[in-house]
Amino acid sequence: MAGELRVPVRQGIASDLDALVAIETQCFDSDQLSRRSLRYFLRVPNAVVLVAEIRGSVAGYALVAFRKGSAIARLYSIAIAPDFRGRNLGRLLLKAGERAARQRGADLMCLEVRSRNRRAIALYESHGYCRCGRIEDYYEDGAAAFCYEKPL
Ligand SMILES: CC(C)(COP(=O)(O)OP(=O)(O)OC[C@H]1O[C@@H](n2cnc3c(N)ncnc32)[C@H](O)[C@@H]1OP(=O)(O)O)[C@@H](O)C(=O)NCCC(=O)NCCS
Repeated sequence: MAGELRVPVRQGIASDLDALVAIETQCFDSDQLSRRSLRYFLRVPNAVVLVAEIRGSVAGYALVAFRKGSAIARLYSIAIAPDFRGRNLGRLLLKAGERAARQRGADLMCLEVRSRNRRAIALYESHGYCRCGRIEDYYEDGAAAFCYEKPL
C-alpha cells in the first residue's frame, strides 16, 4: 500500500463533471451513474457530492442523497480512481459524507453494496456500519446487495 495522503475534500462543482464521469467509468462495470445523473446530483439541494482532489485532479468522490422530511441519509455512491486506492481516500470521503449528513440533521446513514465487494464491505464495517439486510437481484447484472446502516 502506498503512503497515506493528506488531501482536502471539497464540495463538487459543475466543472468536476468530466472527472466524475471518468471515475465512474473506471470504477464500475455496471450500474454506472450516467453523466446526466451526475450533473443532476451536482446541482440539486437534496444531494451532496464531495470530491477529494490531488494536485488538481479529482481522485475520488462520495455522493450522499437526502429526502425531504427524512432523517435518513443514503450513501448513494463512493468511488476512488484505481491509482489512488489504498491511501485512505475512501475512509476520508466516507467520513466527510457522514459529516455532511449530520450537518443536515440526518441521524442514520444507509447504503447498499454488492455482496461480493469485499473491499467496500471492509471499509464500511471498519467504520461502524452494520449489515441490516440483503436484496437479491439488486444490480443490473443480477448481483445481490447487502444493506448497511450506521447511526450518525
Ligand atoms: C471501496 C473503495 C471506495 C475503497 O477506497 P480506498 O481509498 O481504496 O480505501 P481506503 O484506502 O480508505 O481504505 C479504507 C478501508 O478499505 C479496506 N481496504 C482498503 N484496501 C483494501 C484491499 N486491498 N482489500 C480489502 N480491503 C481493503 C480496509 O478496510 C481499509 O481500512 P484499513 O486500511 O484501516 O484496513 C475503492 O476501492 C473503490 O473505489 N472501489 C470501486 C468502487 C466501489 O466499489 N465503490 C463502493 C460501492 S458500494
